[in-house]
Amino acid sequence: SDAAVIFSGIQPTGVPHLGNYLGALRQWTRLQDDAPDETKLLFSVVDLHAITMPQDGPVLMQRKREMLAALIAIGLDPQKSTLFYQSSVPEHTELMWILSCTASMGYLGRMTQWKSKLQMNNKAQEFDETVAPKLKLGLFSYPVLQAADVLVHRATHVPVGDDQRQHLEFARECATNFNTPSPRVMSLVNPLNKMSKSTPNHRSRILITASPDEIRQRIMGAVTDSLNAVTYEPVARPGVANLLEILSQCSPGNPTPAALASELRGAGLGDLKKQVTAAVTSELAGIRDRYKEVLGSKGGKYLDEIQAACAEKARRSAAETMRIVRDVIGL
Ligand code: ADP
Ligand code: NA
Repeated sequence: SDAAVIFSGIQPTGVPHLGNYLGALRQWTRLQDDAPDETKLLFSVVDLHAITMPQDGPVLMQRKREMLAALIAIGLDPQKSTLFYQSSVPEHTELMWILSCTASMGYLGRMTQWKSKLQMNNKAQEFDETVAPKLKLGLFSYPVLQAADVLVHRATHVPVGDDQRQHLEFARECATNFNTPSPRVMSLVNPLNKMSKSTPNHRSRILITASPDEIRQRIMGAVTDSLNAVTYEPVARPGVANLLEILSQCSPGNPTPAALASELRGAGLGDLKKQVTAAVTSELAGIRDRYKEVLGSKGGKYLDEIQAACAEKARRSAAETMRIVRDVIGL
């Protein structure tokens, strides 16, 4: 088939936060809603990537479910988008092995994520006999699995006639959409760090399932500075800039943060925070209820059914690729 195929993945970290949502997941729902009917959309909860770091089995299982329920709650429709656990489609790992037989160790070694792990364990950033044995092969070869994730669901050669140009153009546009710099939401406690799951302080983030009360508390409690005026100065006033960025992302028509700041000239930070609270509450409205409904539906079995049916669909598309790959390689 020559329709566009879109693949993206997210780690099973449980309920996503506002940063995950505005920075990545909301684009998925927009792609789904704008794509022509024949477009294949695959969104994977990448549990095999997650186990490159130590995981507790039952906790991982729970976080996979929570992430899947969250994807449906934000508006991904399992009829239109194939939502599956990566480990349910073994072709991902099969292709990864094949790719790893031609992947360069030197190239992988220069990947920034790997280098940052090395650095984490080794401040000198040099090969260290005592560190190397503790570093895991899976973490090193992570990018090969990422490549396999994408390649196993799309053809490497697309012979097209002129009538297919639109499909290709759409595919390119989708790629551009993924590549446009998405907004970075910063921590509400320390606006120099990004909002993240991995910071222990709960007040630093807003989960997409937060109640209106929680949203209000987090935003009203956001760390800003002592100047009670609204200006957009990302370097001098990162806390205020972050609130304006969030407001921009959650306002119809996406006004720029600078434009919002000049609209709010004369207002105080309390007014800004009230506006941000209202905008975020309206952006996330309904997600909380849908999330609970999805998780509880059919005594929890609804999610399992969706995931099984989607995995079957994803396996069919991946198996088609693997038949060609195996044939070419002589397996
Ligand atoms: P976390 O830092 O919470 O562990 P991940 O690293 O798992 O988040 O990121 C999952 C997705 O969400 C990625 O696409 C990432 O770019 C996006 N993302 C994560 N945090 C933010 C943020 N604070 N602002 C914007 N996007 C974010
Ligand atoms: Na995460």
